[in-house]
Amino acid sequence: MTPELEDLFAFLRFPSISTDSRNAGDVRACAEWLVAKLTGMGLKTSLHPTEGHPIVVAQNEHKPGRKTVLIYGHYDVQPVDPLNLWSNPPFEPVIRDGKIWARGSTDNKGQMLAHILGVEKTLKEKGDLPVNLTFLFEGEEEVGSGNLAPFLRANAELLKCDIIAISDTGMVAPGQPTLSYGLRGIAACEVILRGPARDLHSGIYGGAIRNPATEIARLVATFHDAEGRVQVEGFYEHVKPLEEWEREMWSTLPGTSDDDFLRYSGSSKTHGEAGYTSAERTWARPTAEINGIGGGYQGEGSKTVLPAEAFAKFTFRLVPNQDPADIMEKVKAHLDKHCPPGVSLLYVGGHDGKPFYTDPHSTFGQAAQRALRNAFGKEPVLIREGGSIPIVQAFRDILGTDTLLLGLALADSQIHSPDENFPVENFEAGIRLNQALLEELAK
Ligand code: BES
Ligand code: MN
Repeated sequence: MTPELEDLFAFLRFPSISTDSRNAGDVRACAEWLVAKLTGMGLKTSLHPTEGHPIVVAQNEHKPGRKTVLIYGHYDVQPVDPLNLWSNPPFEPVIRDGKIWARGSTDNKGQMLAHILGVEKTLKEKGDLPVNLTFLFEGEEEVGSGNLAPFLRANAELLKCDIIAISDTGMVAPGQPTLSYGLRGIAACEVILRGPARDLHSGIYGGAIRNPATEIARLVATFHDAEGRVQVEGFYEHVKPLEEWEREMWSTLPGTSDDDFLRYSGSSKTHGEAGYTSAERTWARPTAEINGIGGGYQGEGSKTVLPAEAFAKFTFRLVPNQDPADIMEKVKAHLDKHCPPGVSLLYVGGHDGKPFYTDPHSTFGQAAQRALRNAFGKEPVLIREGGSIPIVQAFRDILGTDTLLLGLALADSQIHSPDENFPVENFEAGIRLNQALLEELAK
Protein backbone atom coordinates (compact mmCIF):
# COMPACT_ATOMS: atom_id res chain seq x y z
CA MET A 1 0.00 0.00 0.00
CA THR A 2 1.21 3.53 -0.79
CA PRO A 3 2.09 5.85 2.11
CA GLU A 4 -0.84 8.05 1.02
CA LEU A 5 -3.31 5.18 1.44
CA GLU A 6 -1.70 4.22 4.76
CA ASP A 7 -2.37 7.76 5.98
CA LEU A 8 -5.96 7.59 4.77
CA PHE A 9 -6.54 4.24 6.46
CA ALA A 10 -5.17 5.58 9.76
CA PHE A 11 -7.45 8.63 9.45
CA LEU A 12 -10.49 6.47 8.63
CA ARG A 13 -9.97 4.19 11.63
CA PHE A 14 -11.10 6.90 14.06
CA PRO A 15 -14.86 6.57 14.67
CA SER A 16 -15.24 10.35 14.76
CA ILE A 17 -19.04 10.44 14.89
CA SER A 18 -19.82 13.98 15.97
CA THR A 19 -23.46 13.54 16.93
CA ASP A 20 -22.88 10.75 19.45
CA SER A 21 -21.44 11.90 22.79
CA ARG A 22 -20.03 8.40 23.39
CA ASN A 23 -17.59 9.11 20.53
CA ALA A 24 -16.31 12.45 21.85
CA GLY A 25 -12.95 10.89 22.78
CA ASP A 26 -12.60 9.37 19.30
CA VAL A 27 -13.37 12.71 17.67
CA ARG A 28 -10.68 14.36 19.77
CA ALA A 29 -8.15 11.59 19.03
CA CYS A 30 -8.84 12.07 15.33
CA ALA A 31 -8.15 15.82 15.65
CA GLU A 32 -4.91 15.02 17.47
CA TRP A 33 -3.88 12.66 14.66
CA LEU A 34 -4.41 15.53 12.21
CA VAL A 35 -2.34 17.88 14.34
CA ALA A 36 0.53 15.37 14.34
CA LYS A 37 0.27 14.86 10.58
CA LEU A 38 0.22 18.59 9.78
CA THR A 39 2.98 19.40 12.27
CA GLY A 40 5.10 16.65 10.72
CA MET A 41 4.74 18.39 7.36
CA GLY A 42 6.32 21.52 8.82
CA LEU A 43 3.07 23.50 9.14
CA LYS A 44 2.38 25.67 12.17
CA THR A 45 -0.54 23.80 13.64
CA SER A 46 -2.90 24.45 16.51
CA LEU A 47 -5.80 22.61 18.11
CA HIS A 48 -8.63 24.80 19.36
CA PRO A 49 -11.08 23.29 21.83
CA THR A 50 -14.70 24.44 21.51
CA GLU A 51 -17.86 23.73 23.47
CA GLY A 52 -18.21 20.82 21.07
CA HIS A 53 -15.41 19.18 19.08
CA PRO A 54 -12.01 20.78 18.40
CA ILE A 55 -11.04 22.92 15.42
CA VAL A 56 -7.62 22.40 13.78
CA VAL A 57 -5.76 25.21 12.03
CA ALA A 58 -2.48 24.79 10.15
CA GLN A 59 -0.48 27.33 8.17
CA ASN A 60 2.73 27.56 6.20
CA GLU A 61 4.79 30.73 6.60
CA HIS A 62 2.67 33.53 5.16
CA LYS A 63 4.84 35.73 2.97
CA PRO A 64 3.88 39.16 1.59
CA GLY A 65 2.91 39.38 -2.07
CA ARG A 66 1.34 35.91 -2.27
CA LYS A 67 -2.31 34.98 -2.47
CA THR A 68 -3.74 33.49 0.71
CA VAL A 69 -5.82 30.34 0.23
CA LEU A 70 -7.90 28.70 2.96
CA ILE A 71 -8.81 25.05 2.56
CA TYR A 72 -11.67 23.84 4.73
CA GLY A 73 -12.71 20.28 5.51
CA HIS A 74 -14.41 18.24 8.22
CA TYR A 75 -13.01 15.22 10.03
CA ASP A 76 -16.28 14.24 11.71
CA VAL A 77 -18.57 11.63 10.17
CA GLN A 78 -22.21 10.58 10.26
CA PRO A 79 -23.40 7.63 12.40
CA VAL A 80 -23.07 4.17 10.87
CA ASP A 81 -26.46 2.60 11.57
CA PRO A 82 -27.85 0.30 10.30
CA LEU A 83 -24.61 -1.53 11.01
CA ASN A 84 -25.80 -4.92 9.69
CA LEU A 85 -26.00 -3.53 6.14
CA TRP A 86 -22.24 -2.88 5.93
CA SER A 87 -20.16 -5.43 3.98
CA ASN A 88 -17.15 -4.52 6.15
CA PRO A 89 -16.98 -2.85 9.57
CA PRO A 90 -17.28 0.92 8.87
CA PHE A 91 -14.10 1.88 10.72
CA GLU A 92 -11.93 -0.94 9.35
CA PRO A 93 -11.18 0.37 5.85
CA VAL A 94 -10.54 -2.08 3.01
CA ILE A 95 -9.84 -1.71 -0.70
CA ARG A 96 -12.13 -3.70 -2.97
CA ASP A 97 -12.93 -3.12 -6.68
CA GLY A 98 -10.61 -0.11 -6.77
CA LYS A 99 -12.52 1.65 -3.98
CA ILE A 100 -11.83 2.42 -0.33
CA TRP A 101 -14.76 1.24 1.81
CA ALA A 102 -15.30 2.98 5.17
CA ARG A 103 -17.43 5.62 6.87
CA GLY A 104 -15.93 9.00 5.96
CA SER A 105 -13.99 7.65 2.96
CA THR A 106 -15.70 10.21 0.71
CA ASP A 107 -17.47 12.46 3.23
CA ASN A 108 -15.09 13.99 4.02
CA LYS A 109 -11.85 12.36 5.15
CA GLY A 110 -10.73 11.08 1.74
CA GLN A 111 -11.37 14.37 -0.02
CA MET A 112 -9.91 16.42 2.80
CA LEU A 113 -6.77 14.30 3.20
CA ALA A 114 -6.15 14.53 -0.56
CA HIS A 115 -5.63 18.27 -0.03
CA ILE A 116 -3.24 17.65 2.86
CA LEU A 117 -1.25 15.12 0.85
CA GLY A 118 -1.19 17.40 -2.21
CA VAL A 119 0.40 20.06 -0.03
CA GLU A 120 2.83 17.52 1.44
CA LYS A 121 3.85 16.46 -2.07
CA THR A 122 4.37 20.02 -3.30
CA LEU A 123 6.43 20.82 -0.21
CA LYS A 124 8.60 17.75 -0.84
CA GLU A 125 8.97 18.48 -4.56
CA LYS A 126 9.45 22.26 -4.41
CA GLY A 127 10.32 23.09 -0.81
CA ASP A 128 7.58 25.73 -0.69
CA LEU A 129 3.98 26.37 -1.76
CA PRO A 130 3.04 28.98 -4.37
CA VAL A 131 0.54 30.53 -1.92
CA ASN A 132 0.06 31.36 1.74
CA LEU A 133 -2.01 28.46 2.96
CA THR A 134 -4.41 28.01 5.86
CA PHE A 135 -5.99 24.66 6.58
CA LEU A 136 -9.18 24.88 8.66
CA PHE A 137 -10.63 21.56 9.78
CA GLU A 138 -13.61 21.07 12.05
CA GLY A 139 -15.29 18.16 13.78
CA GLU A 140 -18.89 19.40 13.74
CA GLU A 141 -19.94 19.80 10.11
CA GLU A 142 -22.30 16.85 10.31
CA VAL A 143 -24.08 18.46 13.26
CA GLY A 144 -24.41 21.92 11.73
CA SER A 145 -21.04 23.62 12.50
CA GLY A 146 -22.51 25.46 15.49
CA ASN A 147 -19.15 26.39 17.03
CA LEU A 148 -17.36 27.36 13.83
CA ALA A 149 -19.04 30.69 13.09
CA PRO A 150 -18.10 32.09 16.54
CA PHE A 151 -14.55 30.81 15.93
CA LEU A 152 -14.44 32.67 12.60
CA ARG A 153 -15.59 35.86 14.33
CA ALA A 154 -12.99 35.51 17.08
CA ASN A 155 -10.14 34.61 14.69
CA ALA A 156 -10.96 36.66 11.60
CA GLU A 157 -7.42 38.04 11.42
CA LEU A 158 -5.76 34.60 11.61
CA LEU A 159 -8.13 33.22 8.98
CA LYS A 160 -8.05 36.20 6.61
CA CYS A 161 -7.70 34.97 3.04
CA ASP A 162 -8.36 35.77 -0.62
CA ILE A 163 -10.25 32.62 -1.46
CA ILE A 164 -11.53 29.43 0.17
CA ALA A 165 -11.55 25.96 -1.42
CA ILE A 166 -13.49 22.90 -0.32
CA SER A 167 -13.71 19.37 -1.65
CA ASP A 168 -16.90 18.10 -0.03
CA THR A 169 -19.37 18.04 -2.93
CA GLY A 170 -19.97 15.74 -5.89
CA MET A 171 -18.97 14.91 -9.47
CA VAL A 172 -21.85 14.24 -11.86
CA ALA A 173 -20.11 11.16 -13.30
CA PRO A 174 -16.85 9.25 -12.79
CA GLY A 175 -13.93 11.11 -14.37
CA GLN A 176 -16.09 14.19 -15.00
CA PRO A 177 -14.56 17.18 -13.17
CA THR A 178 -17.30 19.25 -11.58
CA LEU A 179 -17.32 22.75 -10.13
CA SER A 180 -20.31 23.53 -7.91
CA TYR A 181 -21.45 27.12 -7.67
CA GLY A 182 -24.35 26.60 -5.29
CA LEU A 183 -25.37 24.71 -2.15
CA ARG A 184 -28.74 24.38 -0.53
CA GLY A 185 -29.14 25.79 2.94
CA ILE A 186 -30.80 23.88 5.75
CA ALA A 187 -33.06 24.39 8.75
CA ALA A 188 -33.74 21.54 11.16
CA CYS A 189 -36.37 21.09 13.86
CA GLU A 190 -38.25 18.48 15.82
CA VAL A 191 -41.88 18.37 16.82
CA ILE A 192 -43.27 16.43 19.77
CA LEU A 193 -47.02 15.96 20.12
CA ARG A 194 -48.21 15.18 23.65
CA GLY A 195 -51.63 13.77 24.35
CA PRO A 196 -52.79 11.86 27.46
CA ALA A 197 -50.77 11.87 30.66
CA ARG A 198 -49.44 8.33 30.00
CA ASP A 199 -49.70 5.50 27.47
CA LEU A 200 -53.25 4.22 27.71
CA HIS A 201 -55.09 0.95 27.05
CA SER A 202 -56.26 1.41 23.46
CA GLY A 203 -59.42 -0.59 24.08
CA ILE A 204 -60.51 1.41 27.09
CA TYR A 205 -59.62 4.83 25.67
CA GLY A 206 -59.27 4.36 21.89
CA GLY A 207 -62.03 6.29 20.10
CA ALA A 208 -62.55 8.70 22.97
CA ILE A 209 -59.08 10.27 23.29
CA ARG A 210 -57.02 11.76 20.45
CA ASN A 211 -54.07 9.57 19.47
CA PRO A 212 -50.77 11.53 19.12
CA ALA A 213 -49.39 8.98 16.63
CA THR A 214 -52.37 9.54 14.33
CA GLU A 215 -52.01 13.27 14.73
CA ILE A 216 -48.28 13.36 13.95
CA ALA A 217 -49.00 11.41 10.75
CA ARG A 218 -51.74 13.89 9.84
CA LEU A 219 -49.48 16.81 10.69
CA VAL A 220 -46.50 15.70 8.59
CA ALA A 221 -48.89 15.01 5.72
CA THR A 222 -49.92 18.69 5.64
CA PHE A 223 -46.44 19.69 4.44
CA HIS A 224 -46.87 18.70 0.77
CA ASP A 225 -49.61 18.60 -1.80
CA ALA A 226 -49.91 15.61 -4.14
CA GLU A 227 -47.57 17.30 -6.65
CA GLY A 228 -44.77 17.69 -4.11
CA ARG A 229 -45.23 21.44 -3.53
CA VAL A 230 -44.51 22.53 0.04
CA GLN A 231 -47.69 23.91 1.63
CA VAL A 232 -46.14 26.12 4.31
CA GLU A 233 -47.53 29.60 3.70
CA GLY A 234 -44.91 31.90 2.13
CA PHE A 235 -42.38 29.06 1.74
CA TYR A 236 -41.52 30.02 -1.86
CA GLU A 237 -41.71 33.78 -1.27
CA HIS A 238 -37.98 34.57 -1.62
CA VAL A 239 -36.93 31.70 -3.89
CA LYS A 240 -34.57 32.76 -6.66
CA PRO A 241 -36.04 31.32 -9.85
CA LEU A 242 -33.88 29.00 -11.94
CA GLU A 243 -32.17 30.80 -14.79
CA GLU A 244 -32.82 29.61 -18.34
CA TRP A 245 -29.07 29.18 -18.94
CA GLU A 246 -28.83 26.85 -15.95
CA ARG A 247 -31.72 24.69 -17.09
CA GLU A 248 -30.19 24.49 -20.55
CA MET A 249 -26.67 23.74 -19.26
CA TRP A 250 -27.92 21.05 -16.85
CA SER A 251 -30.14 19.37 -19.45
CA THR A 252 -27.06 17.99 -21.23
CA LEU A 253 -25.13 16.77 -18.15
CA PRO A 254 -24.23 13.10 -17.77
CA GLY A 255 -25.30 11.27 -14.61
CA THR A 256 -28.39 13.36 -13.83
CA SER A 257 -31.27 11.72 -15.73
CA ASP A 258 -34.25 10.20 -13.92
CA ASP A 259 -32.78 6.78 -14.76
CA ASP A 260 -29.58 7.77 -12.97
CA PHE A 261 -31.52 8.98 -9.93
CA LEU A 262 -33.44 5.69 -9.84
CA ARG A 263 -30.35 3.55 -10.30
CA TYR A 264 -28.33 5.23 -7.57
CA SER A 265 -31.19 5.55 -5.10
CA GLY A 266 -32.53 2.04 -5.63
CA SER A 267 -36.01 3.52 -5.94
CA SER A 268 -38.74 2.67 -8.45
CA LYS A 269 -40.08 6.11 -9.38
CA THR A 270 -38.94 9.70 -9.03
CA HIS A 271 -41.25 12.11 -7.23
CA GLY A 272 -41.07 15.82 -6.61
CA GLU A 273 -42.29 19.28 -7.38
CA ALA A 274 -44.13 19.34 -10.73
CA GLY A 275 -42.45 21.18 -13.60
CA TYR A 276 -38.82 20.43 -12.70
CA THR A 277 -36.28 17.72 -13.53
CA SER A 278 -34.73 15.69 -10.71
CA ALA A 279 -31.49 17.71 -10.90
CA GLU A 280 -33.46 20.97 -10.75
CA ARG A 281 -35.58 19.70 -7.86
CA THR A 282 -32.54 18.80 -5.80
CA TRP A 283 -30.14 21.60 -6.74
CA ALA A 284 -32.34 24.65 -7.13
CA ARG A 285 -35.70 24.07 -5.42
CA PRO A 286 -36.41 24.08 -1.69
CA THR A 287 -37.90 21.03 0.02
CA ALA A 288 -39.35 19.76 3.27
CA GLU A 289 -38.18 16.33 4.39
CA ILE A 290 -39.24 14.16 7.31
CA ASN A 291 -36.02 12.54 8.55
CA GLY A 292 -37.60 10.54 11.34
CA ILE A 293 -41.01 9.83 12.80
CA GLY A 294 -42.06 7.78 15.76
CA GLY A 295 -44.21 7.16 18.78
CA GLY A 296 -45.92 4.27 20.48
CA TYR A 297 -44.86 0.67 20.75
CA GLN A 298 -41.76 -0.28 18.71
CA GLY A 299 -41.01 -3.74 20.12
CA GLU A 300 -41.75 -7.23 18.88
CA GLY A 301 -45.34 -8.28 18.30
CA SER A 302 -48.24 -6.07 19.26
CA LYS A 303 -49.08 -3.99 22.29
CA THR A 304 -52.52 -2.43 22.47
CA VAL A 305 -51.58 1.02 23.54
CA LEU A 306 -52.64 4.57 22.78
CA PRO A 307 -49.28 6.37 23.00
CA ALA A 308 -48.92 9.45 25.18
CA GLU A 309 -46.69 11.14 22.63
CA ALA A 310 -45.27 11.01 19.13
CA PHE A 311 -42.58 12.94 17.30
CA ALA A 312 -41.23 13.90 13.89
CA LYS A 313 -37.86 15.28 12.87
CA PHE A 314 -37.78 17.69 9.93
CA THR A 315 -35.21 19.39 7.76
CA PHE A 316 -35.94 22.01 5.16
CA ARG A 317 -33.46 22.40 2.30
CA LEU A 318 -33.31 26.01 1.26
CA VAL A 319 -32.20 27.83 -1.86
CA PRO A 320 -31.16 31.43 -2.50
CA ASN A 321 -32.63 33.79 -1.23
CA GLN A 322 -34.50 31.95 1.51
CA ASP A 323 -33.45 32.64 5.08
CA PRO A 324 -33.44 29.78 7.64
CA ALA A 325 -34.80 31.95 10.49
CA ASP A 326 -37.63 33.29 8.34
CA ILE A 327 -38.50 29.77 7.14
CA MET A 328 -38.59 28.44 10.72
CA GLU A 329 -41.05 31.18 11.70
CA LYS A 330 -43.27 30.16 8.80
CA VAL A 331 -42.97 26.48 9.71
CA LYS A 332 -43.94 27.20 13.34
CA ALA A 333 -47.01 29.10 12.17
CA HIS A 334 -47.91 26.16 9.91
CA LEU A 335 -47.54 23.68 12.77
CA ASP A 336 -49.64 25.78 15.16
CA LYS A 337 -52.34 26.18 12.53
CA HIS A 338 -52.58 22.42 11.95
CA CYS A 339 -52.24 21.18 15.52
CA PRO A 340 -55.64 19.87 16.68
CA PRO A 341 -57.09 20.28 20.18
CA GLY A 342 -56.40 17.41 22.58
CA VAL A 343 -52.67 17.28 21.86
CA SER A 344 -50.07 19.89 22.66
CA LEU A 345 -47.21 20.74 20.37
CA LEU A 346 -43.65 21.07 21.59
CA TYR A 347 -41.33 22.62 19.02
CA VAL A 348 -37.58 21.96 19.38
CA GLY A 349 -35.30 24.08 17.18
CA GLY A 350 -32.23 22.60 15.48
CA HIS A 351 -29.17 23.63 13.47
CA ASP A 352 -29.34 25.76 10.36
CA GLY A 353 -27.19 27.07 7.53
CA LYS A 354 -27.81 29.55 4.76
CA PRO A 355 -27.87 28.61 1.07
CA PHE A 356 -24.89 29.58 -1.08
CA TYR A 357 -24.61 30.79 -4.64
CA THR A 358 -21.57 32.21 -6.41
CA ASP A 359 -20.18 33.08 -9.84
CA PRO A 360 -18.27 30.14 -11.35
CA HIS A 361 -16.70 32.53 -13.89
CA SER A 362 -15.02 34.87 -11.38
CA THR A 363 -11.22 35.11 -11.61
CA PHE A 364 -10.83 32.45 -8.92
CA GLY A 365 -13.65 30.40 -10.48
CA GLN A 366 -11.75 30.35 -13.75
CA ALA A 367 -8.57 29.29 -11.92
CA ALA A 368 -10.55 26.44 -10.31
CA GLN A 369 -11.82 25.37 -13.72
CA ARG A 370 -8.27 25.30 -15.10
CA ALA A 371 -7.10 23.24 -12.11
CA LEU A 372 -9.93 20.74 -12.64
CA ARG A 373 -9.07 20.52 -16.34
CA ASN A 374 -5.40 19.90 -15.51
CA ALA A 375 -6.10 17.27 -12.86
CA PHE A 376 -8.69 15.30 -14.87
CA GLY A 377 -7.71 16.08 -18.49
CA LYS A 378 -11.30 17.00 -19.24
CA GLU A 379 -13.48 20.11 -19.45
CA PRO A 380 -15.27 20.69 -16.09
CA VAL A 381 -19.04 21.05 -15.83
CA LEU A 382 -20.84 23.58 -13.64
CA ILE A 383 -23.60 22.53 -11.27
CA ARG A 384 -25.31 23.39 -8.00
CA GLU A 385 -25.64 20.89 -5.18
CA GLY A 386 -28.56 19.63 -3.15
CA GLY A 387 -26.52 19.02 -0.01
CA SER A 388 -25.48 21.65 2.51
CA ILE A 389 -22.20 22.81 3.98
CA PRO A 390 -23.53 25.22 6.58
CA ILE A 391 -20.38 27.27 7.07
CA VAL A 392 -19.89 28.30 3.43
CA GLN A 393 -22.21 31.31 3.40
CA ALA A 394 -20.89 32.21 6.88
CA PHE A 395 -17.39 32.41 5.35
CA ARG A 396 -18.75 35.13 3.11
CA ASP A 397 -20.74 36.88 5.86
CA ILE A 398 -17.96 36.82 8.48
CA LEU A 399 -14.65 36.70 6.56
CA GLY A 400 -15.93 38.37 3.39
CA THR A 401 -14.46 35.57 1.29
CA ASP A 402 -15.90 33.54 -1.57
CA THR A 403 -15.67 29.73 -1.76
CA LEU A 404 -14.81 27.30 -4.56
CA LEU A 405 -16.45 23.87 -4.35
CA LEU A 406 -14.37 21.23 -6.12
CA GLY A 407 -16.01 17.97 -5.14
CA LEU A 408 -14.89 14.39 -5.68
CA ALA A 409 -17.90 12.40 -4.40
CA LEU A 410 -19.70 10.07 -6.82
CA ALA A 411 -23.38 9.23 -7.01
CA ASP A 412 -22.63 5.73 -5.72
CA SER A 413 -20.24 6.80 -2.95
CA GLN A 414 -23.12 6.16 -0.52
CA ILE A 415 -22.28 9.02 1.80
CA HIS A 416 -24.34 8.90 5.02
CA SER A 417 -25.38 5.33 4.03
CA PRO A 418 -24.00 1.85 4.67
CA ASP A 419 -21.01 0.87 2.49
CA GLU A 420 -19.71 4.40 1.96
CA ASN A 421 -16.83 4.23 -0.50
CA PHE A 422 -14.31 6.39 -2.37
CA PRO A 423 -12.50 5.32 -5.57
CA VAL A 424 -8.72 5.18 -5.14
CA GLU A 425 -8.67 6.99 -8.48
CA ASN A 426 -10.57 9.96 -7.01
CA PHE A 427 -8.25 10.05 -4.01
CA GLU A 428 -5.27 10.28 -6.35
CA ALA A 429 -7.04 12.85 -8.55
CA GLY A 430 -7.69 14.89 -5.39
CA ILE A 431 -3.97 15.03 -4.63
CA ARG A 432 -3.24 16.22 -8.20
CA LEU A 433 -6.14 18.65 -7.97
CA ASN A 434 -4.72 20.28 -4.85
CA GLN A 435 -1.36 20.78 -6.53
CA ALA A 436 -2.93 22.21 -9.70
CA LEU A 437 -5.32 24.38 -7.69
CA LEU A 438 -2.68 26.11 -5.58
CA GLU A 439 -0.64 26.73 -8.72
CA GLU A 440 -3.60 28.25 -10.61
CA LEU A 441 -4.85 30.31 -7.66
CA ALA A 442 -1.35 31.78 -7.25
CA LYS A 443 -1.48 33.33 -10.73
N1 BES B 1 -20.55 16.68 2.03
C1 BES B 1 -21.85 16.89 2.53
C2 BES B 1 -22.64 17.89 1.71
C3 BES B 1 -22.86 17.53 0.29
C4 BES B 1 -23.06 16.24 -0.11
C5 BES B 1 -22.86 18.52 -0.64
C6 BES B 1 -23.25 15.94 -1.43
C7 BES B 1 -23.07 18.22 -1.94
C8 BES B 1 -23.26 16.92 -2.35
C9 BES B 1 -21.79 17.37 3.95
O1 BES B 1 -20.85 16.69 4.73
C10 BES B 1 -23.13 17.07 4.58
O2 BES B 1 -23.56 15.97 4.56
N2 BES B 1 -23.74 18.08 5.15
C11 BES B 1 -24.94 17.93 5.89
C12 BES B 1 -25.11 19.18 6.69
C13 BES B 1 -26.12 19.12 7.77
C14 BES B 1 -25.96 17.95 8.69
C15 BES B 1 -26.09 20.41 8.54
C16 BES B 1 -26.11 17.71 4.94
O3 BES B 1 -26.13 18.25 3.83
O4 BES B 1 -27.02 16.98 5.32
MN1 MN C 1 -21.89 14.66 5.15
